[in-house]
This record gives sequence, C-alpha cells and structure tokens, in this order.
Amino acid sequence: MNNVEEQKNKKILEIPGNLFPRRLDTCLPVAKSAHGIFIEDENQKKYMDASGGAVVVNAGHGREKIAKAIYDQILSHDYIHPTMFTTRSAEMLATALAKKAPGDINRFYFLSGGSEANEAAIKLARQIHIENGNETKYRLVGRWKSYHGLTLGSLAAMGRTSFKTYFTPLLKENLHIPAPYCYRCSYGLEYPSCRLRCALALDEIIENAGSKTISAFIAETIPGATIAACIPPKEYLNTIVEICHSHNVILILDEVMCGMGRTGEWFAYNHFDIIPDIVTLGKGLAGGVMPLSAFGVKEAHFNTIKNNSGAFVHGGTFSHHPVAAAGGLALFEILEQEKLVQRVKRKGKILGELLKKHLLPLTQVGDIRGKGFFWGIEIVKDKKTKMPFKHSLNIAENIWKDLFQKGYLVYKSTGLAGIDGDALIIAPPYIIEDEELEMLVQAIKSAFIKFFN
Ligand SMILES: Cc1ncc(COP(=O)(O)O)c(C=O)c1O
Repeated sequence: MNNVEEQKNKKILEIPGNLFPRRLDTCLPVAKSAHGIFIEDENQKKYMDASGGAVVVNAGHGREKIAKAIYDQILSHDYIHPTMFTTRSAEMLATALAKKAPGDINRFYFLSGGSEANEAAIKLARQIHIENGNETKYRLVGRWKSYHGLTLGSLAAMGRTSFKTYFTPLLKENLHIPAPYCYRCSYGLEYPSCRLRCALALDEIIENAGSKTISAFIAETIPGATIAACIPPKEYLNTIVEICHSHNVILILDEVMCGMGRTGEWFAYNHFDIIPDIVTLGKGLAGGVMPLSAFGVKEAHFNTIKNNSGAFVHGGTFSHHPVAAAGGLALFEILEQEKLVQRVKRKGKILGELLKKHLLPLTQVGDIRGKGFFWGIEIVKDKKTKMPFKHSLNIAENIWKDLFQKGYLVYKSTGLAGIDGDALIIAPPYIIEDEELEMLVQAIKSAFIKFFN
C-alpha cells in the first residue's frame, strides 16, 4: 500500500470541540495539573515528564517563585511597546544571560519562539554584512538532519526534509552540509581517521558557492530533535569556527533545545571552547512557563548596527515582553540559586550510566549518547549493521505510546537514516531524583523488552 492509500484507509476520528489540536489522529487526555516532574490528567492518571515536554521544562512544573514574579509584573506593568520603553525585567534578564555567556556575546534580543529567534538571527547576520559593506553576502548554509523550527525561514534553514516536502515551493533554497553524526557518517568514515570530513564540507560548499555570497552558517551546537542528542567530535566546532572566520561567514549556533543548562553548561558551546557570533535560545529560557526566546550577539556586531544604520530592521509586537522576561528572570534565579546547572552536570553522568548499563545490552538499542540531562537512545533493527527499522513500522511512536500508557513521557525522533530510523530523547527536569532516574530507565527497559519480544 502506498502512502496515499494508507492515508485514505485511515479511520477518520471525530474530534469534539473547536480547538484545532496538534494531533488529529487521537483524542488527547486533558491535563489537569503539573507539579515538579509530574503531570496529572483529568482521569487522575499521573505521568513522569521525562522529557520536559519538548525538552522545555527545566526547573520543574508549578514553580511558585515564577508564578509570583509573573503576577507581580502584570500588576506592575504588563504590556509595554518595546520601541516606546525598555523594562527592568528585560534589561535584567539580558544582563543575567550576558554574564553567563562566554566571550563577548553581550546583547540579547527577546522574542517568543525558537523559530522566530532563528529567523531573526538569519536576518541579523545579513544586516551585519550589509553594514560592513559586504552586500553580496546573503546565502545561508545549514546542515542536513538539523531542526530550526517550522516557520518558513527556519524551515528553509532546516535540514530535515520530511517537514519541508509539502511546502518546498514556498521555501527559499539554502545550502546544506552533512551533520556530525558519527554513528551514521554520511561519508562512511570513522572518527578520528575521518579528519572531520563533515566539518571540511563547510569550507568546500563555501568555496563552491563563492564565499562572497555566503552570509551565515547555522547549526545546533548539539543536535536534538532530529538525531537525538548527538555530540559532535571534540574539534568539530573549532574547525567550523576557523572556516567561518576565514570566509567572513557568521556562525549562528542554535541552542533553543540544548541551551540553558540542559547539557550541564549554561551554553552548550561552553563544552567546546568556542564562541559563535550569534546564539539562539528558546524552550528552557523560561522553562516553558512563558513563550520566550532570544538571540544573543557579540558586542562588536551590535556596534556595527548601532554605529551604521542605527536600527536592526526587525521587531515584533511581543518582542522584549516584560511579563515573559519576568518569568525568564525568575527561572534564571532558580537555576542559579538551586545550582541546578551544576546538578545536571553531576546527575547527568548518573543518567548516562544507567541508560548505558540497562539499555545498551538490548538487541535493538544501537547507540546511547548525550550530555547532562539530554540523552538519545537510537533504536536499530540490526546492531551490527546499524540497519534501521522501516518508517512504516512506527517503532519510536509505538514505544513512545507504550511508555505514555505506563505514565512516562519521553520525546521521539524519527528519520535518522533517510526516512527510516528511530530514537527516543530523555531530557528530564533538572530536579529529578536518583530513584526517579532509576524508575525511568527501568520503565524504558521493560517497554523495549515487551515491544520486541
Ligand atoms: C534546535 C531547535 N531550534 C528551534 C526550534 C524551534 O523552536 P519553536 O518550536 O519554539 O519555534 C526547536 C524546536 O524543537 C529546536 O529543537
């Protein structure tokens, strides 16, 4: 049966109400409450939020301090147009982030979603070049198997084709290079003898396209949604920085998923001892309490704009939103006061060891990789050959469903090998306890055993 026939034969579901929900193939349970690492639905069923939704919730659900900060901010001054006033909450959050960001990433611009932050970053890179007199630089290079969001600009930058197929005629064409995905190297090579062929591909594509046309290279510091917490080799990003410098190409690191302490460092690029030109944040920036994202940029680039045209040609009614920033600031203070990022670094080792000890021996677990509280479990049909399961078997979806039924929420990733391939992402809130980590890993193990036997 082909795809179209498959779709036609699907049972059509009645969806009550007026909401256009995210899923049209199932009636979702209604969430009633969420506290700490647990969510409860209206049928009193409890779920461990072991992926913080879509790798978002970091300090845990239902934080009173954040609720109070938001409440106070609304009563004090709720909406203020960002071209008319600045606000203390936005100023203070920017300063807090700048203090944590290594290098001279000193200026932060707040928006609402990760896709939006990436689009703004892509535009900013282009404008920096224009103001420096390099008007021919406009093209973007991204990576295959990357995820940058679903709005048109971010979708065009993204390298995951399945999200793009319907919309291809609407998308600007960008250039893409292979991802540093050692488990399935696009060149069939092995690290370190590969001599980072996948990083050198950036130099090659820039040379081929003509470096005077290339504005920016965008990449997730540690790729998440598409290849499940795949850590690049140690020198990969250093090589990328050198290539970008040599061609005057702006490096945008997307830390929407992997930033804000998720990997045991405030910024994931800290692990690699490099500084991008622009970094984007989202998801964990306000821990899911508020829709808040940001880009951070080097002071020198900020000055280029300030001292030339004097305005970044961008904006947004809800940019620099004081209530969202108040939520972000309260969350930041929690992460700092409770030393949660340091905790992720420590406990992340325990989570990694548990996953490797209990899951890696299973026949269908091909690889376990990650850092901090950001781990990927890649599922394979054949461990030796790394052969994936066919997409049509919905392996990740089915294991995910089973875990959901058992009350464990994880995140899934598919299309790791062409359209085939499956993985789960484990990314719990930073407050999870050791016994809960153990319970979670045991639950995943029994779901695998039940599913494959
Ligand atoms: C790395 C990365 N960038 C950008 C986005 C898009 O963020 P949003 O869904 O908030 O637009 C995501 C979302 O999963 C992401 O993982």
